[in-house]
Amino acid sequence: MTNNKKLLQWVDEVAALCQPEYIYWCSGTDEEFKEMAEFMTKKGSFIKLNKNKRPNSYYAVSDPSDVARVEDRTYICSKRQEDAGPTNNWKDPEEMKTTLRGLFEGSMRGRTMYVIPFSMGPLGSKISQLGVEITDSPYVVCSMKIMTRMGSKVLDEIGENGDFVKCLHSVGFPLDEGKQDVPWPCNRTKYIVHFPEERAIWSYGSGYGGNALLGKKCFALRIASVMARDEGWLAEHMLIVGITAPWGEKKYIAAAFPSACGKTNLAMLTSTLPGWKVECVGDDIAWMKFGEDGRLYAINPENGFFGVAPGTSMKTNGNAMLSMQANSIFTNVALTDDGDVWWEGMTDEKPSHLIDWLRRSWNPQIKRAAAHPNARFTAPAKQCPVMDSEWESSKGVPISAILFGGRRSSVIPLVHEALSWNHGVFMGSMISSETTAAAIGAVGQLRHDPFAMLPFCGYNMGDYFNHWVSMGQKTEADKLPKIFYVNWFRKDENGHFMWPGYGDNIRVIKWIFERIDNKDNYKEISLGRVPVQDALDLTDLDVTEDTMKKLFTVTKEEGLREVEEMRKYYTTFAETLPQALTEQLSELEKRVEKYS
Ligand code: OXD
Ligand code: MN
Repeated sequence: MTNNKKLLQWVDEVAALCQPEYIYWCSGTDEEFKEMAEFMTKKGSFIKLNKNKRPNSYYAVSDPSDVARVEDRTYICSKRQEDAGPTNNWKDPEEMKTTLRGLFEGSMRGRTMYVIPFSMGPLGSKISQLGVEITDSPYVVCSMKIMTRMGSKVLDEIGENGDFVKCLHSVGFPLDEGKQDVPWPCNRTKYIVHFPEERAIWSYGSGYGGNALLGKKCFALRIASVMARDEGWLAEHMLIVGITAPWGEKKYIAAAFPSACGKTNLAMLTSTLPGWKVECVGDDIAWMKFGEDGRLYAINPENGFFGVAPGTSMKTNGNAMLSMQANSIFTNVALTDDGDVWWEGMTDEKPSHLIDWLRRSWNPQIKRAAAHPNARFTAPAKQCPVMDSEWESSKGVPISAILFGGRRSSVIPLVHEALSWNHGVFMGSMISSETTAAAIGAVGQLRHDPFAMLPFCGYNMGDYFNHWVSMGQKTEADKLPKIFYVNWFRKDENGHFMWPGYGDNIRVIKWIFERIDNKDNYKEISLGRVPVQDALDLTDLDVTEDTMKKLFTVTKEEGLREVEEMRKYYTTFAETLPQALTEQLSELEKRVEKYS
């Protein structure tokens, strides 16, 4: 237990408001996970998977209405509306608290209230941050055990006087007298609310992923981005990997892509180029601070992977498949007749019979998908066979390059390099991507997603751009990471992907590795620097010269359309838009004219 007064008082306040039947302080032990999982199995919320196939692993299906992040129900309740900015939902914090108090009042009746102390980042690291999530969901407790370092050891770290981020969560399904529980309790009314000045989160009505595991998107991105702005560091929606060249040299890179655009695949990539190796530090979030040597160092604040299951296979991401062989939770995938899991893309041949994510009998003649497109696996990072030896380093790993990317079927080349830090910041602000099933809403529509942070920035996006520009002034230019923009998703006139992606992306990474060392193997086009002919290693790759050419072609018309689109988008940010970015836009326009 603890004698931290702030924590004890908060737990008392929440208990008085939510009126749970019991209060349970999570110890974070493996035994606790097992007991909690068994309890959920008895209740019908979990199905225990076949222990010979997937030991200590569980299967859950959500309510059909609670399957993804709810961006339109997500709020940044800063004191001033302009601090939330034009891309976030905002409500006055006092008004919002009144609404939320009304919803949370009695919301845990008949349930246990779990207190989860957790650390984002390795315990003891200066870059790590501590939080406490109070929840009425045992699914959240089991998931937080995988996704964070949690339990009694974190209470010790918080100590008697230490601070922590308050994360309050309720599924909003009280068990009033006579009310029957359901396997996946949730509420039609949902609120995912952040109070950035208070460093507090209140989440109501959803039990799913980023809505409920509050250490992830809510804390490690939305609240942490505010901390990072105030304290001069970066909290980003980025994977982190170590790349080793055949001669043994290693460099670390971070990469931002919107949700469900292959971050987990790149983070665990199996190289198709002999001698090149990728090792994983993290697959979703990077916290980066300048070290004493003036370089940027990154940690992965998470302890596990909450990855999109459909499309993951031994061919596309063998290391992810091996990470989830045991001690994992699967949500909204399909169940096989022998008590294991399956999803679209896992095997070439479909099983002859399954129970689908809506608990219906399924066979391959049935056209609808057996797994929800945003079905997820939750697996401990330490089980990944290619975790980097430094992944838990409290100092972090030095970052030599930052990659931005999105799903763009046209215009954006396979890879291009920024001409300067500010040009790189411009590239980050320029990310657009086709929407995916990771959030509720239409799929496949192109939307701006600057820095892949549109749903995750806890403050005004214009101020966030300024913060990025200012980070470039904090150290010498040659100590800053070089910035690149990649696009694995370009399509030909028949709608087919032109680049094979997955393990072959190492070919692009190899060029980036060489560019970090200033190898003179590039030429300039309107958007930036691209590989000169033959600079990309295409050994044993079956892609025609014509396709390679198309992968790097940006016509004058396309370039000018992109400039126009950005000019229009930038008006969203009004006076908060940094001058440096307006300048970058004019420079781009000039280059489009020059190179066409
Ligand atoms: C995620 C997301 O779950 O970005 O990582 O939606
Ligand atoms: Mn993500």
